[in-house]
Order: sequence, then structure tokens, then C-alpha cells
Amino acid sequence: MKGIVCDEIERFRMTDDLPEPELLDGHAIVSIRRVGICGTDYHAFRGNQPFFHYPRILGHELSGIIEQIGDNEGSLHTGDQVSIIPYLHCGHCVACRRGKTNCCTDMQVLGVHVDGGMRERISMPITHLLRTDGLSLDEAAIVEPLAIGAHAVRRAGIGAGDRVLVIGSGPIGLGVMLFAKDAGASVIAMDMNGERLAFCKDWAKVDHTVNALETDVKQRLSELTEGEFPIAVFDATGNAGSMNRSFELAAHGGTLIFVGLVKGEITFSDPEFHKRELTLMGSRNATREDFNHVLDVLRHTEVAIDKYITHRSSFDGMIEAFDQWLMPDSKVIKAIVELKAD
Ligand SMILES: NC(=O)c1ccc[n+]([C@@H]2O[C@H](COP(=O)([O-])OP(=O)(O)OC[C@H]3O[C@@H](n4cnc5c(N)ncnc54)[C@H](O)[C@@H]3O)[C@@H](O)[C@H]2O)c1
Ligand SMILES: [Zn+2]
Ligand SMILES: [Zn+2]
Repeated sequence: MKGIVCDEIERFRMTDDLPEPELLDGHAIVSIRRVGICGTDYHAFRGNQPFFHYPRILGHELSGIIEQIGDNEGSLHTGDQVSIIPYLHCGHCVACRRGKTNCCTDMQVLGVHVDGGMRERISMPITHLLRTDGLSLDEAAIVEPLAIGAHAVRRAGIGAGDRVLVIGSGPIGLGVMLFAKDAGASVIAMDMNGERLAFCKDWAKVDHTVNALETDVKQRLSELTEGEFPIAVFDATGNAGSMNRSFELAAHGGTLIFVGLVKGEITFSDPEFHKRELTLMGSRNATREDFNHVLDVLRHTEVAIDKYITHRSSFDGMIEAFDQWLMPDSKVIKAIVELKAD
């Protein structure tokens, strides 16, 4: 079968001779239709993804159609359109036993630790498939990146009337904004990129935007919150400087949620942390519950997925298009690879 393999740093290869997946017990064979591309894929290609081994088939933002399946409790059938949960958890570690499958000690993520979905067919545990009736194949493919935001918002426990700040308006931050708004919060988006901030207003319907380059950030946040500061601050920048500073931007009694991640260390002033009695949270991946929440929101609210997806290519055109998507002036938010139209 056909697939694209990342053989080594900066080298993709299209091949026709990948082995067909086997239908194992409790699994289904899914015919892949869409693959979303994100920072993880760019980093893997560029060689700055830690713990990454080559060759590897990338692709973890996946939708497709069930091609073969046995009897199952989830009442899934051949021909069903599905979204894939790409996090293979062990099921028995300390985190899994507590339902926190998203931070399993032995997490195997498709397209990162094991081969992903940039191929015609994949074998998946039935537990990792979600039926996506009523949604498009594009929508079903971007459930995963949106679920990252849904998880962070659920973890933060915010609700109606809460004032929250989301720093970083890339595809991940946008998801946080979307679900924070859906939870009834008043959302301030902060970034250094004016175009992206305009997109936050238009797409995620955030209440305010703050350009971190042009503004005295603390002063502006104080004005926007009657001197109280946001009760929850999400950092989705992947920038250590921003994460360090975020401790000073939260309300007393508030919560700081690190959705973005950095390789290095984060340092902060203990008095700033302590006097606020801040709660600091990491937020990693998402659980099945978060995926279901995303499906629910996509079904019941107007989310302009066609605007979130800024770039697309055919399967055959992916290798060439990928190079362009890496250029900063390509203004990619989300690129999608289309293996088959329907
Ligand atoms: N929690 C998870 O499981 C998970 C999953 C996927 C990605 N991530 C991480 O989320 C982060 C964001 O991912 P993305 O794809 O949206 O990235 P991205 O690079 O597209 O977006 C980051 C945004 O942050 C802005 N930014 C950078 N530094 C800033 C600063 N100092 N102040 C204000 N804005 C700043 C950039 O202008 C950009 O718009 C990355 O660190 C990524 O690794 C986390
Ligand atoms: Zn991704
Ligand atoms: Zn586990």
C-alpha cells in the first residue's frame, strides 16, 4: 500500500510497498482520508523533536472510514466515518489507573513513537475510534488539535463569567479560546502577531486582543479586568520567556495552565507565585472525554473549520507542499493532506 515515510531528517519518501495492516482482535482497519499537519510534524521533519527515531510514518491528526471491523461494543460498522485518538496508552500505569490516559507513563503517540497515519490504511484499537456522523472529513481530522484546547479548558475548571487570558494564538491557542468561549468565559487573546490576533477575534470570537509587542501588557490586562487580572492564564506559546512572565499576569487565587511546552527550564519569582496562591498546571494531550466534547461542540455550534484550515494538498502533492508550509510567510494555521475526497 501507498504511504509517505520520513526516512531521515528533512527527507520524505513516497512509497508503494508498505505492508498492509493486519486485522487484530479488538482492532479495526481504517482507510485514512485526511491527515492534519502540526508543529510536531514540522519538528520531526526538521530534526528538533526529542526522542524521535527515523524512519517514521508521520500523521496523528486523522480521519477516515472503517474498512474492516469485527463485533464490538461501540457499535461501529464498516463504512462509518471516524476520528482517531492517536494516543496509545498502556491501561495499567499509575496515570491510566486514575483515568489520566493522556499522560500515561508509557505513552505511544501515532506518528511520533509509532508509525502514524500518512498511509492508505491503519489498524487501530476500536477504543481509539469515534464516530463522526454529521461532520465532514476535514472536521473529523482536526478534532485532535482542538481536543488539546478542550482538555486544557476542562482542567482549568473555568465557567461562565470568568475572565481568562490565552497567550499564543496558533492552532493550539485558538482551540483553547474556542472552548473557553464555549464555557462562557470572557476571553482575552494575546500574541505578538497582529494578523493572528485579528483571526482570534473573527474565528474564536474572543472579547479582547492584546499585542504583546505594542502594549504595556500588565497595564492593559489590569484595565481589561478592573484591576483584578485574569483568573485563568493559559500559555500556548511554546516560548519560555512568555511562560516565565505569565506568573505575574494571573489574578490572586488564579490558575496558570501550561499548554505549550519548551525543552528548557521555566523560572519564576516565588513571591509572585506565592502571594497569589497560584495553581500551576501542565496540560498534556487529551482524553476520550475531551474528544467527545469537541465532537459535541462541532455538531452544535458554528465553527468555521474552513477558515482554520488555511492550506491543503493531495497525498501526491504533500512532499512538495510541506516545504512551503514550513515557510513563515506561508501563514499556515492548519494544513491538511487529502488522501481521498470522500
Ligand atoms: N499540551 C499538549 O499536549 C500540546 C499538543 C500540541 C502542541 N503543544 C504545544 O503548544 C504550543 C503551541 O502550538 P502551536 O502549534 O499553536 O504553535 P504556534 O507556533 O503556531 O503558535 C504559537 C503562537 O505564540 C505566539 N508567541 C510566541 N511567543 C510569544 C510571546 N512571548 N508572547 C506572545 N505570543 C507569543 C506566536 O506568535 C504564535 O502565534 C507549542 O509549544 C506546542 O509544542 C502542546
Ligand atoms: Zn498535532
Ligand atoms: Zn499508562
